[in-house]
Amino acid sequence: MTELHAVQPTTVRAELVEALGPAQGDRGKGRLFGVSLGPGDPGLITRRAWALLERPDAVWTYPVRSLRKESYVLDIALRAGLALPEKHQALLFPMTHDVEKLARHWLKAAETVRDLLATGKDVLFLVEGDASTYASFCYLARVLRELDSEARIDIVPGVTSFNAACARLQMPLSEQDDTIAIVPAAYGIAAVEKMLDDFDTLVLMKVKPLLDDLIDLLDRRGLLAHSRFIEKAGSPVERIVHDVAELKGTKVNYLSLLLVKNPNRERGEMIRGCRKKTTIELEEENQE
Ligand SMILES: C[S@@+](CC[C@H](N)C(=O)[O-])C[C@H]1O[C@@H](n2cnc3c(N)ncnc32)[C@H](O)[C@@H]1O
Repeated sequence: MTELHAVQPTTVRAELVEALGPAQGDRGKGRLFGVSLGPGDPGLITRRAWALLERPDAVWTYPVRSLRKESYVLDIALRAGLALPEKHQALLFPMTHDVEKLARHWLKAAETVRDLLATGKDVLFLVEGDASTYASFCYLARVLRELDSEARIDIVPGVTSFNAACARLQMPLSEQDDTIAIVPAAYGIAAVEKMLDDFDTLVLMKVKPLLDDLIDLLDRRGLLAHSRFIEKAGSPVERIVHDVAELKGTKVNYLSLLLVKNPNRERGEMIRGCRKKTTIELEEENQE
């Protein structure tokens, strides 16, 4: 029987220090960390993110859509029982398609981070979900690099909203040879409909403005029974809707998505892969 060993906290800390490097930059400048916190349930914060968030010397930064609005991701950290460090700062990432306005705010946020790093402090940018998946962190890191090509940036990956949603709904994201598309619904109904022909699972993000039209499409394609909706997955106000049609004409939160399965999709023949073996592989298998 295998003997189970309890994980020693000191070993964990030593592993993390090794993985994350020294607290401060060797050139006197701090390092920026994109720290993914998962989509809402504090239990989905990784050990690596947790170790960083426990550091009292680091500065927390977090995105807000307006200076009057609370930060969803900051709330995840506080609900986890983590203490807000002495130095913390909201960074404004407005919801707009105005390219110039966006560029202005990304620059302002990156300048703020650059100035904080110059004080020698490490800066944590808290990210809802995963930092590499449609996250403001991507813009922040890009503009910071434009301001300082030597800026040191690390990313702590996390659980995405759709991975957590699949778990909550007990709906596999993919099985066997399934194809998956992760799509901002803003591409429009025609684009989403086209994807239904090529993918077994569609993860439709940012569905809020198009929800009614999406519901009509799913109805027309006979896919309502294979669709699920989730809002603020993992948070205390999470909402799961199995009968997506009942959302027609209602308002939903921006933090919501649709998972759509298309079991009737016509698939092409597999050329190679786990289902199709070459003659040589089949002969080898028979000899075993
Ligand atoms: C800017 S993207 C952020 C994605 C995030 N970084 C991730 O890893 O999932 C925002 C979109 O992600 C989806 N989303 C993010 N968090 C969610 C949550 N807790 N529940 C449901 N959908 C969420 C929604 O479709 C929302 O419009």
